[in-house]
Amino acid sequence: MKIGQLRFNKPYILAPLAGYTDLAFRILCREQGASICISEMISCHGLAYGQKKTLAMLATRAEERPVGFQLFGNDPQVMADAAAIMSSYPIDFIDINMGCPVRKVVRKGSGAALMKDFDLAGDIIGAVSKNSTLPITVKFRSGWNNDSIVAAEFAQMAEAAGAAMVTVHARTWAQGFGGLANWEIIAAVKERVSIPVIGNGDILCYQDGERMLEQTGCDGVMIGRGALGNPWVFQENGRPETYQARLPVILRHLELVRAHLPAEKMLFRVKNHVGRYLAGLPGASKLREQITSCPSLESLEELLKLNQTEASMSKQQE
Ligand SMILES: Cc1cc2nc3c(=O)[nH]c(=O)nc-3n(C[C@H](O)[C@H](O)[C@H](O)COP(=O)(O)O)c2cc1C
Repeated sequence: MKIGQLRFNKPYILAPLAGYTDLAFRILCREQGASICISEMISCHGLAYGQKKTLAMLATRAEERPVGFQLFGNDPQVMADAAAIMSSYPIDFIDINMGCPVRKVVRKGSGAALMKDFDLAGDIIGAVSKNSTLPITVKFRSGWNNDSIVAAEFAQMAEAAGAAMVTVHARTWAQGFGGLANWEIIAAVKERVSIPVIGNGDILCYQDGERMLEQTGCDGVMIGRGALGNPWVFQENGRPETYQARLPVILRHLELVRAHLPAEKMLFRVKNHVGRYLAGLPGASKLREQITSCPSLESLEELLKLNQTEASMSKQQE
């Protein structure tokens, strides 16, 4: 798989997930086998106007590379300005969001709304490409709704406008995140363009990824919700069965948050991740309740370690 001049051995990518794919989670997924990670979507206006909160989203570290940062917006000039700012950071490519279904985003003409305006979408890709030294990639959906499945034509337009790779989330805007992704659309896109095509939608385990690669002929696969609570999804053996086996990765996540992010502001987000790591384990709901009342990352860590002792003691008694 390649993006511009970058080459990758393994075709598994962590999807951009607002509220989740911050620096800590990206490094964790790289350590667990993801070959590339993509940031949460970042507002072009926030960057161009120098908003502190938006600029903080550009935090990156050498160990997470190769990494892509994702931009959203609908004004070619502002997108180009924001791309220039992004390009000054040590990252590997810029991804443009043309698939977000959220009403607040679509109402302003950004995200999936751009699939209804090929000319504007092309202008944005062109303006961003012109203003950046990095490869530009584009992520979009199958189309707006079932009556307008335009992904193949949209991909052709993106390639002509300068995109180095496209990702297709094989659902329409109207589907949101429900229903099934239609992987046939990914195969149709692959037939239409010569740049790499990444398939996305409904990959819950490593083997699903292999199936998508085989069925669609796509060059790489992108995993979103399947990676939440499960960074092991990037490995063939998947998520470990026991709490003890999961704990080192959970604690590593906490360590990465403390090392790289404003930890005191991250408590709620980290608890969300940790709750997901416990999926399917005995006693998970009781432990989740205790996690809710932890006042700090330190107390959360203590609780998780204490639970390990309790879990191993109850195992010995069995
Ligand atoms: C909580 C959440 C946040 C998301 N944030 C973004 C985002 O910032 N940018 C983007 O392009 N897609 C975003 N997506 C869409 C995912 O990247 C992905 O395309 C979608 O979830 C389908 O893949 P999956 O079936 O593997 O989850 C988000 C999805 C979820 C569930």
